[in-house]
Amino acid sequence: MKTITFIVQKGGSGKTMTSGVIAFLLAQKYKVLAIDMDGQGNLTEMLTQKEDIYDDDIYEKTALEACLAEDVRQYRLHMGDYFPEMENLDLVPANDLLSRLPKKLYKKYSLNDSDPRPLQALKKSLAPVADEYDYCIIDTPPSLGETTLNAIIAADGAVIMFECSKFAHSALGRCISVLDEGRRMNPGLQLLGILPALIDGRRWDHEDLLELVREEFPIIMEKTFPQLMPESMYSHVVFDSIVKRLADTGRLPVEGLSEENPKLISGVAPYQPVLVELMARLAGPDAFAKYRSRLEVAVSLEKNKGE
Ligand SMILES: Nc1ncnc2c1ncn2[C@@H]1O[C@H](COP(=O)(O)OP(=O)(O)OP(=O)(O)O)[C@@H](O)[C@H]1O
Ligand SMILES: [Mg+2]
Repeated sequence: MKTITFIVQKGGSGKTMTSGVIAFLLAQKYKVLAIDMDGQGNLTEMLTQKEDIYDDDIYEKTALEACLAEDVRQYRLHMGDYFPEMENLDLVPANDLLSRLPKKLYKKYSLNDSDPRPLQALKKSLAPVADEYDYCIIDTPPSLGETTLNAIIAADGAVIMFECSKFAHSALGRCISVLDEGRRMNPGLQLLGILPALIDGRRWDHEDLLELVREEFPIIMEKTFPQLMPESMYSHVVFDSIVKRLADTGRLPVEGLSEENPKLISGVAPYQPVLVELMARLAGPDAFAKYRSRLEVAVSLEKNKGE
C-alpha cells in the first residue's frame, strides 16, 4: 500500500477536494482506503453525502477511535454500500470530536515531550491493512498540529496544496519545514510536489504568484530541504498540472461523486492529468523523467499543429 497525504495549513486550499477526487479516481481501478483526518469531516461528507456526520454509521467509529486503537479495521465504511461506483473505496470517517485526538494520545502515553508515540498512532493503525489496499489517501486539517503530523508520519509521499494567494504563498515555507521535521521520524517520506489549485484564469495575480513559486522553490529545495525529494526533481517541485477553479468541480461536495451527479465527468476532469503526474512522481525519478519526456513531445506536437 502506498500512502499519500495532502497538506497545507492555509484553509480552503483544495486539500479535501483533491483527496476525495483522487481517491475516487484511483478506486475505479485499485483498492483504496481514504482517511479523513480533519475534524471538519468534509471528506466524510463529500464521499458519503451524509450531512449528519454524527449519524449512527459514523458515531464513535471514526479516525479518532482508529488512532486510539492503533488499528483502522473496525472503523472503515465500505463505500460500495452507499454507491456502486465506489465498490473499491473504503473510508475511515471523521467528525469534530477528532480535535480530542492529541489530548487523548498524550494522556494514553503520559510521557515526556520527546516520546514519538502520539505522532505514530495513525501509522500504526494502518499497518494491519497494508496488504488489503493499493493506495491510502489522507486528508488533513488546515493546521500543522499533531493530526497533520500523524498523517505526515504515516505517509510515503506528501503533496503540498497551493491555492495561489498571498497567504498561501506565506504558508509554503513553514509547511515544507514541518514536512522535513516529520521526515526525521519517517525517513522514507518524500515531498511529491507542490500542487497549484483553485486557479482562476481571469486573475493575473494567480499567474504571477505561480511564476514566483516555480522560480523560488527549486532553489529552496536544493539549499534547505535536499533530502525531501530526489535531486533530479528539485527543478520540477511544482506540478506541471494545475487544478483550475471550475463550477462543476466546486459542486462535487453538493452533488456527490456518483452517477447521480450529471456533472460528475466534467467535475473530476481537472484531476485526470493531476493523477497521471502524481503517479509518475510517486513511482520515482525514472518514471517521472519518462512522464516529462512524453509531456514535452505532446507540447511540441501541439506547437507544430498551431504553426
Ligand atoms: N477546482 C475547484 N473548482 C471550484 N471549486 C473548488 C475547487 N477545488 C475546491 N473547490 C471549493 O473550494 C472550497 C475549498 O476547497 P476544500 O474544502 O477542498 O479546501 P481545504 O483545503 O480542504 O479546506 P480546509 O482547509 O478548510 O480543510 C470548497 O468549497 C470546494 O468545494
Ligand atoms: Mg478540507
